[in-house]
Amino acid sequence: MTSETIEARARKAGIVPVLTIEDPAHAVPLAKALIAGGLDVLEVTLRTPAALDAIRAVADAGLDCVIGAGTILSADDAARARDAGSEFLVTPGTPARLWSALRSVGIPTLPGIATATEAMTALDEGFSLLKCFPAEQSGGAGFLKALSAPLPEARFMPTGGIRQDTMARYLCLPNVVAVGGSWLASGGDLGTGNFAAIEARARDSFSTAREART
Ligand code: 3PG
Repeated sequence: MTSETIEARARKAGIVPVLTIEDPAHAVPLAKALIAGGLDVLEVTLRTPAALDAIRAVADAGLDCVIGAGTILSADDAARARDAGSEFLVTPGTPARLWSALRSVGIPTLPGIATATEAMTALDEGFSLLKCFPAEQSGGAGFLKALSAPLPEARFMPTGGIRQDTMARYLCLPNVVAVGGSWLASGGDLGTGNFAAIEARARDSFSTAREART
């Protein structure tokens, strides 16, 4: 899948759920619930021992979704996430040691940035679809709006502190492809396997995202 396809799918969904999965058995029902709610681009963080198995389970299930991996901190993380079936990778920040790994891993990657200098570095390194993290703490939607004038070629997927009631500020910006966030499936409902509640939240958030874009 190309970076352009990932970008188009993420733009269509408007929201990319950021998923921290403790139990690999939750992965497929969770993905199905989110897809049913309209959210078909998913990011699984490499923050739990279950993450790679969760990615593999979703990739192997042949669902109509795009599955990616977040919290990529090293070249090794990137290779393991790709080998598990990830179709894209996301880093929280991008130290110099990661650029060549991101370029050579063979699947689209969204390097994390939090300043104008970091965004410029990413553009210099050949990446124009970027994660902004932590978005709210780094200046929020106003920060990304301000970057659009000097860096018109950069497009962003902001995550970090964004919730359903704040995402519209981001989604009305042309340089925001989609917002990411963990609010769709965290804590209680995921722990107890309440996938119906997750699907309902996804549907509600998807409809809020569509309204924000019109
Ligand atoms: C991420 O990795 O993108 C963030 O943890 C998501 O941030 P949130 O939990 O505040 O939504």
